[in-house]
Amino acid sequence: MTGTNIAFVHARRVWDSRGRPTVEADVMLENGAVGRAIAPAGASTGSAEALDLRDGGEAFGGYDVQHAVANVNTEIARAVTGMDAANQAALDNRLIALDGTANKSRLGANALLPVSMAAAHAAAHAAGLPLFRYLADDDATLIPLPQIQIFGGGAHAGRRVDIQDFMIVCPAADSFAQALEWTAEVYRAAGKLMAEAGTLAGVADEGGWWPVFSTNEQALDMLVRAIERAGFKPGHQVGIALDIAASEFGRAGRYKLALEDRELDSAGMIDLLSGWIARYPILSIEDPLAEDDPEGFAAFTRLHGKSLQIVGDDFLVSDAARVRDAAANGAANTVLLKPNQRGTLTETLDAWAAAKEAGFSAIVSARSGETEDTTIVHIAVGWGAGQLKVGSFTRGERMAKWNEMLRVEESLGARARFAGGTVLGRSR
Ligand code: PGA
Ligand code: ZN
Repeated sequence: MTGTNIAFVHARRVWDSRGRPTVEADVMLENGAVGRAIAPAGASTGSAEALDLRDGGEAFGGYDVQHAVANVNTEIARAVTGMDAANQAALDNRLIALDGTANKSRLGANALLPVSMAAAHAAAHAAGLPLFRYLADDDATLIPLPQIQIFGGGAHAGRRVDIQDFMIVCPAADSFAQALEWTAEVYRAAGKLMAEAGTLAGVADEGGWWPVFSTNEQALDMLVRAIERAGFKPGHQVGIALDIAASEFGRAGRYKLALEDRELDSAGMIDLLSGWIARYPILSIEDPLAEDDPEGFAAFTRLHGKSLQIVGDDFLVSDAARVRDAAANGAANTVLLKPNQRGTLTETLDAWAAAKEAGFSAIVSARSGETEDTTIVHIAVGWGAGQLKVGSFTRGERMAKWNEMLRVEESLGARARFAGGTVLGRSR
C-alpha cells in the first residue's frame, strides 16, 4: 500500500470514566489518513500486566500521565515516524524493542497501546475499511456474545461485596441487538427489585447497580429474580456470568471473604463456588481462584471445565506464554483479552492465537476505567473472538461500545452471525 507510512504522531492527556487522566494518541499517515485511540485503565489489575505508567506525586491522586504523554511525543513518535502503519507486527515490534523491558515499565503500556491502536485505525481509514474488516483475515462476520454486568462489586464498588461482576449472558438471543434488548429488561428489573427492597443506591464503576447485599448469595438470588421478573427463563435463555476477581481477596492459598467474615483455603473456595454452580444458572466464571493459585485453577477446571466457561483474566493477563502454560496444566478454558494488559495489538493477538491452538475460547474485554474509545468492539469482530465484555448497561463509556457493535451488526446485514452460546468456553 502506498502512502501508509506514518507522518506524524501526537499524544495528549484526556480523562477517563473515573475522572482520571489517560493518554490519547493521534496517528497521521503520509496519505492524510488519521487514526485515534485512548488507553483504558484497570482497577483490579493482575500483577503480571504490562505497566500503566503514572506520575505519582500530589496531582490527581498520583494518577497523572504526563510522562506517558511525553514518551509518545518524543521517543515513540521519533521511532515510528516513517514506518508503515499497515504493517502492525513490525510497528508493534518496534514499540516493544524501544521500550526494552518485559513489562513496558520504561515507556508505559499506556503510552504504547494508544499508538499501536491509532496506527491500526489510520491504516484502516487508508484502506477504506471499517476497523473490524481491516483487522480480519477472513470475512469477519461473527458477532460476539456479550457479558453484561447487572451488579458491580469488588474493587469497583468500594468492596461492598467480595465478588466483582455479577453479569448475564443471553445465549438464546437471535442477534446481538436482541441480546441488548433482553439485557435492558433484566437491568431495569434488577433496579426495580433493588428499589422495592429499599436498597437502590446508584451505580458502581462499570455502571452496574451498587451492590447493597449482606451476602454474596443474596446478590445471586437477586440476579435470578431479575432475570425472571424480566420474563426470561434463567439458564440457557439468560444465564449468569461471574467475575470473582479472586486475586483481589486471595493470596498464598488464603481467601478472605470480607462480606461473610470468613477465610477459606483453595479447596474451601472451590467448594463455595461449586455450591453456587449447583444452585444457580452459572454459565461462565472468571478468575475463580487467585493469580498465584494455578493448582487451584487446575483443580477447579478438572471439576467444572467440561460444563462451564472458566476464564483467566488476572491469571493469564492476555499473555500467549501464560495461555500455553495454563492449557498444558489444564487450568481454565478461556482467556480474557485486554490489549492494555500487554501494551500492543500484536501481543494481544498472539494470546488469542495461542488460545485457539489450545482449544480455549476468548472474551475481548474493556477495563473498569474506560472512555468513548470503541477499538475493542472492532477487535472482537475482526479477530472472531466470539465474546465481548465491557461492563454494564449504563454510562456513556459502556454504551459507546454496545452501540458501536449494533452498527457493526447492522452493517453486515444478513451476513452477520451472532455467536450465541456456541462460543461459551469448555475444555475439549
Ligand atoms: P479491571 O476490571 O479493568 O478493573 O481490571 C475488569 C475485570 O476484572 O475484568
Ligand atoms: Zn476480571
